[in-house]
Amino acid sequence: MSNPNLYATFTDRQKQTSPSLVHEDLTGKTVMITGANSGIGFEAAKHFATMNPARLIVVCRSMEKAQASITQIEAETGYKNAEPMALDLGDFNSISEFATQANKTLERLDILVENAAIATTEYVLTRDGWETMLQVNSLGPALHVILLLPIILRTAKQHSVVSRVVIVSSEVIFFANIRPEAIASPNILETLSSKEYCTAEVIGESRYTESKILNNMLVNKLTALLPLNIVPVALSPGFCISGLRRNIQGEAAERYKRMEDQIAYTSEEGSRLILHAALAGRNEEIRGTFLSYLKPHELPDHMLSEEGKRTEDKIWNEMLELFSQVDDRVRDIVVEYLK
Ligand SMILES: NC(=O)c1ccc[n+]([C@@H]2O[C@H](COP(=O)([O-])OP(=O)(O)OC[C@H]3O[C@@H](n4cnc5c(N)ncnc54)[C@H](OP(=O)(O)O)[C@@H]3O)[C@@H](O)[C@H]2O)c1
Repeated sequence: MSNPNLYATFTDRQKQTSPSLVHEDLTGKTVMITGANSGIGFEAAKHFATMNPARLIVVCRSMEKAQASITQIEAETGYKNAEPMALDLGDFNSISEFATQANKTLERLDILVENAAIATTEYVLTRDGWETMLQVNSLGPALHVILLLPIILRTAKQHSVVSRVVIVSSEVIFFANIRPEAIASPNILETLSSKEYCTAEVIGESRYTESKILNNMLVNKLTALLPLNIVPVALSPGFCISGLRRNIQGEAAERYKRMEDQIAYTSEEGSRLILHAALAGRNEEIRGTFLSYLKPHELPDHMLSEEGKRTEDKIWNEMLELFSQVDDRVRDIVVEYLK
């Protein structure tokens, strides 16, 4: 957040926005949310529970965490139809197994919220060999959404409804772009993940931002390729107090602490912005947008430029190539739904 003007705009908009809670009757619908055991995701899951969905799929890194979250949701809301599912976004096998399980057990999926993410200042590779924030925040959610598309599309068609795919991004996409050396490299994803590229500064400052830019690129691609009865939407939950920055130390941690004291929403307030993206507004107005402080906001110039569009196309193709190697179903899904 080095640009003081952008930072001032961001803090002003946060201070001026008092998020109201959208409430809708979700009877008969199936809602799924990742990262539902903590912070904004847990609060959003509780709000969904008060709206009586037929099924609320509480997705966490382990069944134990999901079950503990459900126990608390039940205790606080009285809702009885929450179901646990385990998903480690840093492990492609886990995402594949999740999809297999979902295909067996889910008759429909009306609202999918990709909320889980991490922020860290350490360069750590996942078991699949990708830098952790790149995989957990960007690659994992993209593969997860793609593998669930057959269920989501079937839901919209068979039940004549519009399904929403909600991706939790961040205001940070306005603060920086992916670095030029990565954009110019032969394989952007491999460069973003490489030790040489991931200096302490990249991991400490840029990587989280890059991972969220990739979230918005995913929404752009889904919007361009999927039929109108699927509404992909990205949102920022604002700056919230949560466990997200627990691994961040030093000067950055102090800066965030000051921001928490001055402008932060609680996780519950932040979760209202997820509910807004999942439920509010007319579908045709929400589709493909980035909701920043509850309103569709134009994406940053670096994403809208010719180079930004080329980068988005290249990253998308690299992702599809990678995912096709990871899971055989991806090729068929691409041919059937994403051409
Ligand atoms: N807090 C903010 O100010 C802020 C601002 C803008 C955007 N966001 C976005 O809001 C979303 C929610 O973040 P939060 O602030 O609520 O943070 P949080 O409290 O740390 O919650 C993050 C959730 O993601 C889960 N997660 C982490 N790694 C995972 C993995 N490998 N596989 C599956 N799940 C994993 C966590 O599970 P564990 O409990 O097992 O770690 C946790 O449930 C994120 O997308 C974040 O980028 C937050």
